[in-house]
Amino acid sequence: MLHSAVINVMIKAARRAGRNLKRDLGEVEHLQVSLKGPRNFVTAADRKAEEIVYEELAKARPGYGFLGEEGGAREGTDKSHRWIVDPLDGTTNFLHGIPQFAVSIALERDGLIVAGLTYNPANEEMFLAERGKGAYLNDQRIRVAARQKLADAVVACGLPHYGRGDLVLARREIAAAQQQFAGLRRYGAASLDLAWVAAGRLDAYWERDLSPWDMAAGILLVREAGGFVSDCDGGDAIFLKRGIVAGNETMQRELVRLLRAAAKDTTAAP
Ligand code: IPD
Ligand code: CA
Ligand code: CA
Repeated sequence: MLHSAVINVMIKAARRAGRNLKRDLGEVEHLQVSLKGPRNFVTAADRKAEEIVYEELAKARPGYGFLGEEGGAREGTDKSHRWIVDPLDGTTNFLHGIPQFAVSIALERDGLIVAGLTYNPANEEMFLAERGKGAYLNDQRIRVAARQKLADAVVACGLPHYGRGDLVLARREIAAAQQQFAGLRRYGAASLDLAWVAAGRLDAYWERDLSPWDMAAGILLVREAGGFVSDCDGGDAIFLKRGIVAGNETMQRELVRLLRAAAKDTTAAP
């Protein structure tokens, strides 16, 4: 499949960082690990992967801005373009040798996400999308699932841990979801949860307390796969409100409805 020049740049950066991560995965017990907050790990592997991605993207597009999870924001001379990068999404999985982690790269042009890529080096799955050109997994076109009945749906969610996020609200949301859906899943890498919605493996996904780099590529993947994405109130303030709901039109709408009801229902046992 022929990719655009900018997608080829992103693929090259992701593959190079992925090779490094696969090597580190084999030596994870020797990896230098530090804490960024309660149970929020960062490893030498996260930092190395970000360095590699930055190097490749800056070489190919020297003027573009760069927002990376580990190094923060780097201003570019070209104020229209900004990369948004999570060099290792699913760090806790990675530290436990759980092969569900990814390099996630998005390109924003004048505030709009125009290209997105999420790559799991453990199983060589490369999800990519370009605005108006569809979404692909290893060069095969992907579409969101068409299921309409909540009782048939498998849905993924975040599961905040102690010291991060609103545990009481999360329990209410999960209790409500357990009564509606066929299955709930917690996989531990937000960028892959969104990619799996785009590929039709998951019918829907929601999570709060996320950063732009967790969601940017996935937002475009889901939309280019025919899906719908919003903040947890059904609006467009995804980055601002740091939360996301994704699925086909019915699932996204019904999940937003469920979350709003759960948030209001203070009688439900937390
Ligand atoms: C985390 C993962 C996880 C989500 C957390 C994120 P990280 O990203 O995406 O699934 O629940 O909120 O911070 O820290 O592994 O890049
Ligand atoms: Ca992340
Ligand atoms: Ca990360």
